[in-house]
Amino acid sequence: MRVLGIETSCDETAAAVVTEGGDVLSDVVRSQVALHAPYGGVVPEVAARDHARAVVPVVREALSRAGVTAADLDGVAVTSRPGLAGALLVGLQAAKGLAWAAGKPLVGVDHLVGHLLAVFLRRGGAPAERPAFPYVALLASGGHTAIYRVDGPSLGAIRELGATRDDAAGEAFDKVAKLLGLGYPGGPVVDRLAEGGDAAAAKDAVPRPMARKDSLEFSFSGVKTAVARHVARRGRPEGQALRDLCAAFQGAVVDALVQKTVRAARAEGVERVVLAGGVAANRGLRARMAAACARRDLALFIPPFASCTDNGAMIAYAGALRLAAGERDALDLAPETRTALPRVTRKGGGVR
Ligand code: KG4
Ligand code: ZN
Repeated sequence: MRVLGIETSCDETAAAVVTEGGDVLSDVVRSQVALHAPYGGVVPEVAARDHARAVVPVVREALSRAGVTAADLDGVAVTSRPGLAGALLVGLQAAKGLAWAAGKPLVGVDHLVGHLLAVFLRRGGAPAERPAFPYVALLASGGHTAIYRVDGPSLGAIRELGATRDDAAGEAFDKVAKLLGLGYPGGPVVDRLAEGGDAAAAKDAVPRPMARKDSLEFSFSGVKTAVARHVARRGRPEGQALRDLCAAFQGAVVDALVQKTVRAARAEGVERVVLAGGVAANRGLRARMAAACARRDLALFIPPFASCTDNGAMIAYAGALRLAAGERDALDLAPETRTALPRVTRKGGGVR
């Protein structure tokens, strides 16, 4: 089976052709980062307009790199939720038009399910190390941060164990980078600066979030506010002081992500841990998660970076599995801003 996947939920216009076995035949990602950079974050209307400009060329490129035409496809998968309504709409309309014109079945995919299954993608013929079910997955991106138990590849087999009560981890990186005048997106810059920093030297500026031992929920707004207060009091740090502050901030975020993911795996009696989302690129997170998993005999799976960040291949693959199960959606499939996965964490307030 060869399935085209289209992804336009946020600030990447992406399309890919993937087999139901997870082989990536093509994967085209066109980032809007430069377009949103002057604003320090994604502007929804700007995103939607750029998707409208880019979606047809990106889909054409994905088909041509895979060496197929629309007639060769077995179906069209598209992110239908969660995301920015206007941005999702562009991908949906393109997918519907193509599916209708080529007479192929259409399936909507929940973006979060795509991220959680991206570990199964095989790129460039390389044999991917694939986890068996069940596994515990940490999904940390600019828009989402949550821990899931994944018992199988469908919506009904995925359960949220805990999520952030406020900012997503990537959002915290982006906001702190903005405060420090480091540009957008913040994750990669902070990651680089943190490498040369000493977290202990700036520990007074960034208090460790006092996480309740039994909770699997996150809160990152306190760490961000602490950095904001520090900058308001002392101005933007430079040189070594900046690197130390980045190390302290990153350390606080990474510690919370690692502790709670490991706690979730142990509480569930699951031996496999998977990372997903753009923040999985963070070198501090990779190193500390690897060490924590090794100490507790947990097998850790970290997909290549291209599978962690937003891409069309994960949508095509999740869609291929839906199609293989005989599922399809009608041409009135509508965008939804929220995920279809049941949530256990309420945003705002309460204990952590
Ligand atoms: O998954 P993604 O590409 O898009 C979504 O948000 O869905 O994730 C982007 C996020 C941004 O917030 C970015 O700052 C963060 O991932 N990120 C990182 C790193 N690389 C990207 N955060 C920390 N360390 C990194 N190396
Ligand atoms: Zn994403």
